[in-house]
Amino acid sequence: MRHLTETIILENNAVAKNIFRMTLKCPEISRSAQPGQFVNIYFSDQIHIFPRPFSIAGATDEILNLIYRVVGVQTSQMAGWKIGQTVKILGPLGNQFTVDASVDNHVLIGGGVGVAPLIFLADKILQGGIEPQFFLGVKNRDEMPDGKFFRQLQDFHASSDDGSIGFHGTVVDNFLSHLPGIKKSVAIYACGPEKMNAALAQLAGERRYDCQISFERLMACGLGLCQGCTVKKNSTDAEAGYLLVCKDGPVFHSDRVMFND
Ligand SMILES: Cc1cc2nc3c(=O)[nH]c(=O)nc-3n(C[C@H](O)[C@H](O)[C@H](O)COP(=O)(O)OP(=O)(O)OC[C@H]3O[C@@H](n4cnc5c(N)ncnc54)[C@H](O)[C@@H]3O)c2cc1C
Ligand code: FES
Repeated sequence: MRHLTETIILENNAVAKNIFRMTLKCPEISRSAQPGQFVNIYFSDQIHIFPRPFSIAGATDEILNLIYRVVGVQTSQMAGWKIGQTVKILGPLGNQFTVDASVDNHVLIGGGVGVAPLIFLADKILQGGIEPQFFLGVKNRDEMPDGKFFRQLQDFHASSDDGSIGFHGTVVDNFLSHLPGIKKSVAIYACGPEKMNAALAQLAGERRYDCQISFERLMACGLGLCQGCTVKKNSTDAEAGYLLVCKDGPVFHSDRVMFND
């Protein structure tokens, strides 16, 4: 069940260049939050009436973590928020990743700040006694979040577009370079730029991997009211049309939707 609640900021620190982690005290939301779901953050000024959506990057009984990149007006405001300040948020919203424990290899693939929902998912998979494989691609070393996020992962693989950290190339190329060592069934869970998502969807289609992707779209309401966050259904889908990222997603099986690459 979703809650609209005033939360208290416990932490709001930079973890990489222009990337911040915010920790909020909000048991109402954190207790029921699942990996893949997101929250709407509201802003108290009269100009920015629309909330901003952020994936849940971790949740315990009391606490919710978000990881956000400063890209524009409202995320710049967020970077200036102080510990102890209150923030209005609504959540948890949207659907979640589904983990089938009978699959042999659980592969999490994140591009940039798309890492956020996958950190939460990795925690859940580890709690279930399964060791996931985690691939994270960034543009360069400056954008790689603090290593403490990935310390508990034994099978973590970093890459960067300019080669300044980890594998030199895209996160998809890094995953492809590991494919010969990956046996049996594979489930991919991804979140990142549209180009990365499209490449993974194609790969998953060719190799018949199960592939779930968390989508981002510009959102106004975040509640299924404005129809502003559409994604086109795959043309092979019997009922052609559109899905709403905020209401039907943000997580979709890659064969269910079309990609703008
Ligand atoms: C379900 C969902 C989960 C998200 N999770 C995260 C997250 O965990 N961490 C994170 O950093 N960001 C996340 N985003 C994106 C985040 O909501 C936007 O970056 C944020 O709303 C930008 O607000 P702004 O006012 O700073 O930017 P604006 O000033 O509004 O825009 C600045 C630039 O960012 C682009 N932008 C704005 N909103 C989005 C969006 N929703 N998707 C893609 N590009 C956008 C604009 O086109 C513009 O180029 C998520 C988006 C969705 C839909
Ligand atoms: S953001 Fe309004 S319907 Fe999805």
